[in-house]
Amino acid sequence: MSTPGGIESTLQELRSFPPSPEFTAQAVIRTQAEFDQLYQQSINEPETFWRNQASNLTWIKPFSRVLDWSNPPFARWFTGGELNISSNCLDRHVAAGNGHKTALLWEGEPGDRLAISYADLHAQVCRLAGALAAAGIRTGDRVAIYMPMIPEAVVAMLACARLGLVHTVVFGGFSAESLADRMNDAKAVAVITADGGYRRGKIVELKKNVDAALAKAPSVRHCIVVKRTGQPVDMKAGRDTWYSDFIDSFSGDAPCPALQSEHPLFILYTSGTTGKPKGVVHSTAGYLLGAMLTCKYIFDLKNEDIYWCTADIGWVTGHSYMVYGPLACGATVVMYEGAPNHPDFGRFWEIIERYKVTVFYTAPTAIRAFVKWGDEYPNQHNLKSLRLLGTVGEPINPEAWTWYHRVIGGGRCPIVDTWWQTETGSIMCSPMPGITAATPGSCAIPFFGIDLAVVDRQGNELPPNTGGYLVIRKPWPSMLRGVYGDDERFRQQYWRDIPPFYFTGDGARRDEKGFFWVMGRVDDVVNVAGHRLGTMEVESALVAHASVAEAAVVGRPDELKGQALCAFVTLKAGRTPDEKLKDELKAWVTREIGAIARPDELRFTESLPKTRSGKIMRRLLRDIAAGKESVGDTSTLEDYSVLASLRADQE
Ligand code: WTA
Repeated sequence: MSTPGGIESTLQELRSFPPSPEFTAQAVIRTQAEFDQLYQQSINEPETFWRNQASNLTWIKPFSRVLDWSNPPFARWFTGGELNISSNCLDRHVAAGNGHKTALLWEGEPGDRLAISYADLHAQVCRLAGALAAAGIRTGDRVAIYMPMIPEAVVAMLACARLGLVHTVVFGGFSAESLADRMNDAKAVAVITADGGYRRGKIVELKKNVDAALAKAPSVRHCIVVKRTGQPVDMKAGRDTWYSDFIDSFSGDAPCPALQSEHPLFILYTSGTTGKPKGVVHSTAGYLLGAMLTCKYIFDLKNEDIYWCTADIGWVTGHSYMVYGPLACGATVVMYEGAPNHPDFGRFWEIIERYKVTVFYTAPTAIRAFVKWGDEYPNQHNLKSLRLLGTVGEPINPEAWTWYHRVIGGGRCPIVDTWWQTETGSIMCSPMPGITAATPGSCAIPFFGIDLAVVDRQGNELPPNTGGYLVIRKPWPSMLRGVYGDDERFRQQYWRDIPPFYFTGDGARRDEKGFFWVMGRVDDVVNVAGHRLGTMEVESALVAHASVAEAAVVGRPDELKGQALCAFVTLKAGRTPDEKLKDELKAWVTREIGAIARPDELRFTESLPKTRSGKIMRRLLRDIAAGKESVGDTSTLEDYSVLASLRADQE
């Protein structure tokens, strides 16, 4: 962990955008007093607050205790209680007479469309759950999901949740290698996939990747394949089954088992500072409550909303804000399979117009791309249905924020800049749309029950406008329950730096109004197009190549992606540092991890700058990658000539 001294924020953004009186009049929270009263209760009497809020879930057996924090950092929420997540997302809406209501409005990239009601979705989930149970997959078993953005992906998640199978969704853009690593770490017994998916007019060959991954993942016994694109694929007898055959003989109505509050719901792999991605584990009741409540209060979600979150189900945003949160609220969710620029740059705006989307949630990297593509695309469409906009994934620059507000929101929609992480499970910090006068670039105020603070290394809270470490000081229901199979790593990664608090890995400051400004990661994690990548992972992949001796990967600012990856590579003796090898190494990383990890820039160097103890000085490499003069302390640098030659190389 480096000190955040170097990321002292100088950004002075004073514009303030209060919600319109019309928005406030219909909002879930309408007055500051109402908010303060609930927030005070959530912090001063958390047990009472969470007990009351938990009544928003449908319980099979009521819980006896709100929080058991007797063995930190292992929290247990709502102990003694039993419930079923898929029943909270489906059965209860059907039982309330809303079965006819549209749950999913799906659009494939080629233009095919489907509207699926809550009753339909319930039936599909029951059929798949029945088939999974009949295949001998048992409560607690892990199931990998490697799918395009098609309705069956949502069905697969909910069917696993229904039976208490722990799903691990792997983003369809990851390589066979990454998929195999994740399936092996989770010891998955089954994988649900598709022959392929559409992306920018091309077919992504998912089944082919699965075949390569399965050759290295011996725990997987079943492979269930949705026919999406129809291109020929290999089906291995005894292991592979077409989805339609798999569910064929199963009924669309099946009861669901009662699962304990702390039953694990999913594992999602995310990047950390060292080594391989870690399997973040979330559990049932607390997670669902966090996802659902934030939808209600932050997205101001109501029964009549048409809600669209553009995230892929392979990321946590897709889990909490495309599937579990909005479905638990009974909303109508828009789901789109493909790219925003296919067949042209207007695709998103066309979708918003067609379905009359009211709440839209996307990422700053996407917004920057929209800005670049030009106002004429959104301007060709009627976006008047929108009433609230959201963003997540990285700090949003004020220019992108004001463009989003003006061009997409027509100046009338509040923007919720939501800060959270895979580990936090749900949004931790955001404006309250009906009452907060938002300031572009700030994620504003902590959510109910979240004791967020900016502290120094010793855990002392810092005065306003002083950069420091962002921590959460009290446990919260949707917090991660651990790192799969590695309690030590869980303690090490999150709880040892600033004990006894949860350390987020982010640097931040809090201004005099109490608004939070997240300044980015203080560790070796970069945020490329809203996706977290551990630079270590990319380095390990590079070093695994036969020609590479050593590699250091850092982020540099990128106008579109937020950060871009820059790799410094030293070669083994006798290898030629030419363009051909550069391309080969980039392709190698794509194959090992996936296209998101492909270095944007790769530089060969004779040696890397190191401290006397042999640590690579990434801070210097970051400056070089960004084209900046290094102003920091270089007194421990092993060999000054290394720096000089790296710079010379740049000219
Ligand atoms: C960054 C995504 C500033 C942050 C839900 C965090 C943000 C990491 C914001 C988590 C935001 C996310 N403002 N930074 N609104 N949202 N981040 O796990 O560095 O993919 O720690 O979860 O993204 O990324 P993750």
